[in-house]
Amino acid sequence: METLIGGYELLDYAAELIKGGELVAFPTETVYGLGANAFDVEAVNKIFIAKGRPQDNPLIVHIPEYKNSLEIAEGIPDEAYMLWMKYSPGPLTLVLKKKPVVPNIVTAGYDTVAIRIPNNKTALELLVRCALPVAAPSANLSGRVSSTEAKHVYDDLKGRIPLILDGGQCLVGIESTVLDLTKNIPVVLRPGYITAEELSHTIGNVINHKGEIINAESPGMKYSHYMPSCPCVAVSSSDSAISIYDSHKQAVIVGTDKFIECCGQRDNISLGSSPEECMRSFFKVLRNAEENYAYIILESFEGRKDYYALNNRLFKSAQGIVF
Ligand code: TXA
Ligand code: MG
Repeated sequence: METLIGGYELLDYAAELIKGGELVAFPTETVYGLGANAFDVEAVNKIFIAKGRPQDNPLIVHIPEYKNSLEIAEGIPDEAYMLWMKYSPGPLTLVLKKKPVVPNIVTAGYDTVAIRIPNNKTALELLVRCALPVAAPSANLSGRVSSTEAKHVYDDLKGRIPLILDGGQCLVGIESTVLDLTKNIPVVLRPGYITAEELSHTIGNVINHKGEIINAESPGMKYSHYMPSCPCVAVSSSDSAISIYDSHKQAVIVGTDKFIECCGQRDNISLGSSPEECMRSFFKVLRNAEENYAYIILESFEGRKDYYALNNRLFKSAQGIVF
């Protein structure tokens, strides 16, 4: 299959593909998504095949406006509307009780459905033109680094999908916060750009995500994620970075400007200097590092509040190995 890449001018074609049961990769503010008509079992099955994704990992359903949630969820609590007032469109996914009309393949058999309203012009326009809820995981091969540019999607999925909508670089750069609103106290299943503290400002008590690699609450968390194709470790000091660097061939140090400065004249790629910059560049830098080096050394942000969500991804890329 030939994979076409194009911009806004292909939106109508993209909507036709989705309505016709095909897959389309599209930009969001977090990462690129790989979308299919959420009501079409065969179309959704194509997502799992294209990504090589385990069938027991449920998908997020994307809608253009919170009102559309009524088509797919029931018993929606007030907290959901309070959060949508403040954060929609935005990098927040709410897990709600699902309506029977949502196929089990989307929710991996759970009686809940994850819903998100992405803050991206192309994504919203696509959702409006499809006039359908669109199930979409991140547009990468399962287990691999998420895609924050159309090229990343192409590298992973060329020949497997008919169309990639190119919306440039994703502005947030890491996936949405996933909040389960079906529990007595809402639970953050996956940390993201919007923090548990921020959520609790709007809805009161929220159970924080602890940062463990295995989290029984979020089915997706038990699989390995964000793994570069070469060895990758995290370090909590520039001294560790230097000693590991010096004992490996073709190593590269990845971190903030400040951290890299402390590592002297060694090969490096900067993530930037602010938490926002670092989040935005993280997956792109990882892809760049794995292409050009044989060993990746990542600055750990353990204990730094502003980098909490980024450190969650970074820790997984390093498979929990921190020196
Ligand atoms: O930012 C994002 O959320 C991106 C963009 C494309 O929207 N999407 C994304 O999808 O990250 P994915 O499939 O890579 O991650 C979805 C996460 C997984 O951890 C999955 O287990 C969880 O959401 N999830 C989905 N449905 C769920 C449900 N019903 N209950 C609990 N967790 C759910
Ligand atoms: Mg993913």
